[in-house]
Amino acid sequence: MGKRIVVLASGAGSNAQAVLDRPDLNVVAVVADVPGAGVLARAEAAGVESVCVDRGGYADRPTWEAALIGAVDARRPDLVVLAGFMRILSGDFVRRWPTLNVHPSLLPAFPGAHAVEDALAHGVKVTGVTVHFVVEEVDAGPIVAQEALDVHPDDTPETLHERMKAVEHRLLPDAIALFCADRLLVTGRHVRITT
Ligand code: GRF
Repeated sequence: MGKRIVVLASGAGSNAQAVLDRPDLNVVAVVADVPGAGVLARAEAAGVESVCVDRGGYADRPTWEAALIGAVDARRPDLVVLAGFMRILSGDFVRRWPTLNVHPSLLPAFPGAHAVEDALAHGVKVTGVTVHFVVEEVDAGPIVAQEALDVHPDDTPETLHERMKAVEHRLLPDAIALFCADRLLVTGRHVRITT
């Protein structure tokens, strides 16, 4: 099998599902920070180990993150993928493994947890999806892939986010596959896709 992938997610997990659905990607575990997160059931259905490191079960962030690092480390990943993981990770975490994130805007526009709402509130006509390597600064790492989407005049956060997710479900697994094939060459801020 190919490189070992651990997926971190907090919610429904439609992006995690898109990764689990790819037979060429070797997901060894899905880790959530919220008990009962939909993504845990998706992992179980796919026959992939699911783990919850409940933030609520730890007194503070460093203790929780140490437990998270322990859980991820035990699965010996070559790559960590954040697929709707809604907690900020310290530099200590993100320097440990190459980590990819999917974000619903054309970064560096609209970083943060409300990117879809922020883009609509700003009145942009075009937004999109970004897959990037994770660094300590939130949503700021080297960009692997981006795809633009038109904003429709009658879009709500829900309708726009739904169209974005359809793009994410293709862009994220494709970026992971490139990483697993050793085809992503990172030089500073720049990611070159090699042939
Ligand atoms: C996605 O839109 C992703 O870009 C953002 O969180 C959302 C997760 O959705 N970081 P899902 O749980 O994968 O359906």
